[in-house]
Amino acid sequence: MQLIKVASALFALASVVSAAPHHPKIAKKTPGASYIPGAYTVEFETTGSSFADPAASFMQSLGKEHPKYATNPPVKGTQIKNKLFNGMTLHLGDNHSPVELANMKNVKRVYPVKINRRPTAVRTKATPLAPGNDVTPHEMTGVGATHRSGHFGKGVKIAVIDTGVYWKHPALGGCFGPGCRISFGTDLVGDAYDADAVVPVLTPDSDPMDNCSSDSHGTHTTGIIAADARGITQTGFKPFADFVGVAPEATIGHYRIFGCNGNNGDDVMANAIFRAYADGAQIISISIGEASAAADESLTPHAIELVKKAGVHVVVSAGNDGAGGLYTIGDPSLSPSSYSVASIDNHAAVGSAFTGPDNAVYIYGPASSGGWSTPIKSQIFQADVNDGCAANTYPGAAGKVLLVRYNGQCKSSAICGSAAKQGATGCLIYNVGGIAGNPAVPSGSVDGGTGERLLKSLKANPAGVFTFSNSQGLGDLPTAGTASDFTSYGTDIELNFKPDIAGVGGSIYSTVSPHAAEVGHSDVAYLVLSGTSMACPYVAGSLALLLEQRGSLSVDQGKALLQNSAKPAQIYNTTLVETPVRVGAGLVQIDRAIASQTLVTPSFLALNDTKHTKKNYRLRVKNTGKKSVTYTLSHVGSALATGIAAGNDMPLPLINYTPDYATVKFSNQKVTLGAGKSADVTVSFTAPKGANPKLLPFYGGYIKVASPVETISVPYQGVVGDFSKAKMIVENSPVALTNGVKDADGNPITANAILNATAGIDVELVLAQSTRMVMVEVLAAGAHIPGTTLSNSLGVLVPAKVADKNAPYTFTVAAIRPNQPRNVQNDGQGNHVSYALPWYGLVTPAPAPGAMDTPRQHGNNTVQYSVPAGKYQVRFSALRHFGDATKASDYETVLSPVFQVVY
Ligand SMILES: *[C@@H]1O[C@H](CO)[C@@H](O)[C@H](O)[C@H]1NC(C)=O
Ligand SMILES: *[C@@H]1O[C@H](CO)[C@@H](O)[C@H](O)[C@H]1NC(C)=O
Ligand SMILES: *[C@@H]1O[C@H](CO)[C@@H](O)[C@H](O)[C@H]1NC(C)=O
Ligand SMILES: *[C@@H]1O[C@H](CO)[C@@H](O)[C@H](O)[C@H]1NC(C)=O
Ligand SMILES: *[C@@H]1O[C@H](CO)[C@@H](O)[C@H](O)[C@H]1NC(C)=O
Repeated sequence: MQLIKVASALFALASVVSAAPHHPKIAKKTPGASYIPGAYTVEFETTGSSFADPAASFMQSLGKEHPKYATNPPVKGTQIKNKLFNGMTLHLGDNHSPVELANMKNVKRVYPVKINRRPTAVRTKATPLAPGNDVTPHEMTGVGATHRSGHFGKGVKIAVIDTGVYWKHPALGGCFGPGCRISFGTDLVGDAYDADAVVPVLTPDSDPMDNCSSDSHGTHTTGIIAADARGITQTGFKPFADFVGVAPEATIGHYRIFGCNGNNGDDVMANAIFRAYADGAQIISISIGEASAAADESLTPHAIELVKKAGVHVVVSAGNDGAGGLYTIGDPSLSPSSYSVASIDNHAAVGSAFTGPDNAVYIYGPASSGGWSTPIKSQIFQADVNDGCAANTYPGAAGKVLLVRYNGQCKSSAICGSAAKQGATGCLIYNVGGIAGNPAVPSGSVDGGTGERLLKSLKANPAGVFTFSNSQGLGDLPTAGTASDFTSYGTDIELNFKPDIAGVGGSIYSTVSPHAAEVGHSDVAYLVLSGTSMACPYVAGSLALLLEQRGSLSVDQGKALLQNSAKPAQIYNTTLVETPVRVGAGLVQIDRAIASQTLVTPSFLALNDTKHTKKNYRLRVKNTGKKSVTYTLSHVGSALATGIAAGNDMPLPLINYTPDYATVKFSNQKVTLGAGKSADVTVSFTAPKGANPKLLPFYGGYIKVASPVETISVPYQGVVGDFSKAKMIVENSPVALTNGVKDADGNPITANAILNATAGIDVELVLAQSTRMVMVEVLAAGAHIPGTTLSNSLGVLVPAKVADKNAPYTFTVAAIRPNQPRNVQNDGQGNHVSYALPWYGLVTPAPAPGAMDTPRQHGNNTVQYSVPAGKYQVRFSALRHFGDATKASDYETVLSPVFQVVY
């Protein structure tokens, strides 16, 4: 019967990856990300402006060679032409194939067009009118000192690639074009563009204006570099307090690559990178990314690589999925040529505020039921219950604001309702994000750290009177200088050193369009947004300050200077040093980078797992100053970061930090170097003894190279244990995220369950680790291949329902994927709890050569079999870290119980 003809398990695995899985000139598709169906960017061999435009002649030859292209021509998309890259995007019809493109003369490479999701910031707080202090983080980063020395980035050209910019904002200069603050750039897409459209509509024009997107992402990121909000009196544009961006005197451009709504195609992103390069940008800031297992083969990383070689610094946000735990960092920040930027929290935030008896400012979130719209003066009553529902009365709260610690057991509406019954003047809940509250009483919430500040104040002065209102203030952030809770953790699946560096991205006050201000309920065109999206332009602007004074630098030099001078972070509420896996080299300190007289390279060390750690690592110390200097070497360990717990396959959302450090030995403790001289020092590492290799914790720290005038630090990181032994697929977890086949109630099946494929069978894949290759197959029950423990594969499972186009991390055609990001315990922006594979009985052969590049994404969709009623199993396979994709033994496989399919 026909089913038996379908590839066996071993054959299926091998055929995915062996000899010629697809055309060598066609870039592999990657992370679970979506692709524009049928869209390919063709790169021509010929580059350089002196060559004739080959696009037209290519279309002619294509039509001659394959008449179907002449009678049914593909729709032309983005065209890219510059010294580094010459190509164009084509939207192929049903009877066209990318292999035909790849086989044409003068074709260097063919790139399927990936879809980049629209970037989103993490949270929004309303903004203010009253005057205050410093809303910027410039005193945390040396930017303040650099500004005081009279340097604001003059002469350096910097491009932001984002959702467009509201350049009419007076803080952004109010005009666009030569002589204006935002002086170059373009709109590559137009308002209506959305990469999810069948053929995305491109209506480019020369103006990158955005007054239509709801969060004004690009105006916010651009303002972080470019704003000069001093002395503005215009209605609707007067800031909470005067401030300037990081490099407002730089020559600043903006390339708009998103329409008013929706996503972006990678060809447009790459086009923007090349355009910025061709327009002379020295620095490019990209606050956009996708969760990924490793840097991928799409066009953007290729563009970053090419412009890096031409000396352009590309700065990219690391991602906002830190709440998912380890390995949540995104691409293209994983590209080795980019600066991958993590986020640190600002010293203070602008928001609704109340003040204490000593005039201390506390930022709070008014409840959705309303905060203190009518200002009052009141004492605070601290409830002695910490959940607000153990007792439904709060004796003593009458006439005071009730303060309760939140622990999730009781709803804020109930807590505040009880407060109202007791005659409280308000209800304040701490240790929580936003709350619903109760309309019977003014209600609000603060985070845990602010709650503790309040308790301290009450302890010192129990009868102190607070002033509650909804007016805006600038309040200290308890988490100042520590890693933002959202910032994604490294590393990629090869244990490369990522992220590289941190900027300040937690609670950033910057410019937005009037439209976004309206959407964000702000009277003025400024909002506080958080995200690595904000940290990225902060670092890009800082680089401009560096180039202004140190002249042009190669990307390797620039990255080394930034990393050498950065400041390691503390872990919030501890005395421990944060792991480089979260903040890279630490927070950018641009005054130190500018003044530095030493260069230590490499500027970071990825030690791999302890199975692959080298005996020695060499650091080259160069004295770039004018005097002879003696350097002293030492070591500071960062906390051991354990992200896995015994008995739980799903990596932890909250990392367990412990004071376990490596032992580090140096060939010489001291090095004396004359001006301009360099020398090598050998460093060896012994992993911390207290670490449990089964849990694959990350150890790390900073090598310090100190002269009398400065201290350089070199971050390092590695895994204790054998990373190839990491559990890839979640089978055991107390958090009910188990992988497998489910019954109609969503519970894991037991052996011989009867499942109705007409109604749909619920199959879930839950990856504990990101992986180079994952596949879900259907097997005939018990049919073992002789000499193996494997059963015959009937083919790759085909999930029948096409997933929501805005949730790219689902399998849309066949359950086989390269470079798949891991799942997490709670849904994030880029990482999701599971991959759903609703199954209606269809399988498809594992892809044959070329099949990965068919318009319908992965799998061979020309052949789909419906399995007959009978007994089956589902096998989940994920390639282990460092594994060889052609070897079945390098996959971790999980087999479901036998179940019976009926229709
Ligand atoms: C800070 O740490 C202490 C001691 O571990 C703990 O009791 C407290 O809740 C922590 N505070 C916050 C805001 O996390
Ligand atoms: C770690 O070792 C593995 C196995 O040799 C290799 O694939 C990987 O690229 C290495 N990673 C680094 C950062 O050296
Ligand atoms: C921008 O949008 C706002 C709110 O939608 C509108 O009032 C304003 O006129 C727009 N400005 C421009 C220049 O289009
Ligand atoms: C399976 O479900 C379909 C519709 O959901 C129903 O028509 C059919 O009778 C079911 N089959 C069995 C064997 O119960
Ligand atoms: C799909 O499978 C069929 C049958 O095995 C084969 O003839 C065809 O070439 C395959 N198509 C692709 C694109 O691999």
